[in-house]
Amino acid sequence: MCQITICSGESVRTVSARPGYLLGEALREQVPAFAMPCAGNHTCGKCKVKVEGAVSAPDGAELRLLSESERAAGIRLACACQIRGDITVTLYEEGASKIVSWYKTPAFERTEKGCGFAVDIGTTTVALQLIDRASGKILAERLAENAQRGYGADVISRIEACRAIGVSALSDRIANQLEEMAAQCLQEAGIPEAAESVVTGNATMLHIYEGLDPFSLAVVPFRVQSYFGCMSRRTLAGAPVYLPRCVGAYVGADILCAALAADLLGGGVQLLADIGTNGEMALAREGKLLCCSTAAGPAFEGAGLSCGMPAAPGAVRAVKLENGTVSYETVNRAPAKGLCGSGVLDALSVMLKTGAIDDSGYLEEDWPVGGSGLTVTQKDVRQIQLAKSAVCAGLLTLMEEESLPPSAVRRFVIAGGFGNTMNTDSAKEIGLFPAALREHTAFIGNGALGGACMLLMNCGLREKSEQIAREAVELSLSASARFMDCYVDCMSFMEF
Ligand code: FES
Repeated sequence: MCQITICSGESVRTVSARPGYLLGEALREQVPAFAMPCAGNHTCGKCKVKVEGAVSAPDGAELRLLSESERAAGIRLACACQIRGDITVTLYEEGASKIVSWYKTPAFERTEKGCGFAVDIGTTTVALQLIDRASGKILAERLAENAQRGYGADVISRIEACRAIGVSALSDRIANQLEEMAAQCLQEAGIPEAAESVVTGNATMLHIYEGLDPFSLAVVPFRVQSYFGCMSRRTLAGAPVYLPRCVGAYVGADILCAALAADLLGGGVQLLADIGTNGEMALAREGKLLCCSTAAGPAFEGAGLSCGMPAAPGAVRAVKLENGTVSYETVNRAPAKGLCGSGVLDALSVMLKTGAIDDSGYLEEDWPVGGSGLTVTQKDVRQIQLAKSAVCAGLLTLMEEESLPPSAVRRFVIAGGFGNTMNTDSAKEIGLFPAALREHTAFIGNGALGGACMLLMNCGLREKSEQIAREAVELSLSASARFMDCYVDCMSFMEF
């Protein structure tokens, strides 16, 4: 056995681990607060620790996600580093290891002072961070299920609920939830007040937050009551709130913020996909955005599947085929309870390789996921088939609209929680996106929150972002014959 000395602030302790064991796994067992936001998928770069002693050499993921100076200083990604002998590990940025909402942003100037909240109201999940605007330091954060979930999982059910019981019931619910989360963060950080906040979200979530009737978003011609790009009528923790601008009814302020965080207009042809219940996409070319949104459904978030669940402890997050045997991994190595989105994608890829399903998705009998006791059913396959066709067809339609082949895309950015743990090879194999994009894929985590942080720390970016949203074009896929053709073509499980 190897001795691992773990240093965290004042505390130092030594534990044992067998040689070859992954450092991230050892830390997860020994330090409950040690977070691996992308579940060890080598995409977030947030599991940094300082290591001295006998460990494996940095692999490709570490060369990609760590700077040269970090590597020279002994910084490693815990999820990529194997223990080979006795080592000393210093938990790097102790606070950062507890942050569960991660994102990457490009370099930008921080012009504001004081503390503020950056908030992303997702249809499923709400993320809120208290940030020191001068240093960019995250002082506290909360992540919670959207308190409106009792009114349905998707935006259409929420809009129907607003019609049935009045928008103020749902509006107050989310506003109260944000107030509670903000109060907890201020208390945790010992900060008396916030200077300002930025609250982003899709158009429906922002309408409801503002108490505007969202009904017009659900009926042709899908009009917004407000594009926002203005101060809210609400305050958060007593401070004013800025709402970023939406592009249209189904391309919200969240995708605009994600485009900022992805530096999508930074040059060349770039493509962004935020894959959640709604698949929102943007193609950047010559300083302009062409955007669309498809109803992918909640299957990628584990909902609506016979054994589906969110990427919580016990969720099967990866399925592999090794020497003819199917193996699986669960979040936190807890006993298998269900399949999350990335696990389902992997499972389908393995099912294709073993011939359990054919290109059409036909499945003769329920497919057992290794020895987990879980199965994938024909209905599950169909759910994923619909979701992946919607996403892939949306991407192809954007590119075709600009007469661009997938090979013209310089960078394909995936935002959103599902992207964190997705195995891009499996995604490509089942045809979630065109195969030519695989080599250009980059992950930015919660880009909507990242963009909100940028707008919180630099007010000058707000006007620029509003201009980008004003000039962006929203493509209506429901009226697009091209989209319908692509959608039908994308139904088969094959690489495109
Ligand atoms: S957990 Fe290691 S890179 Fe995300």
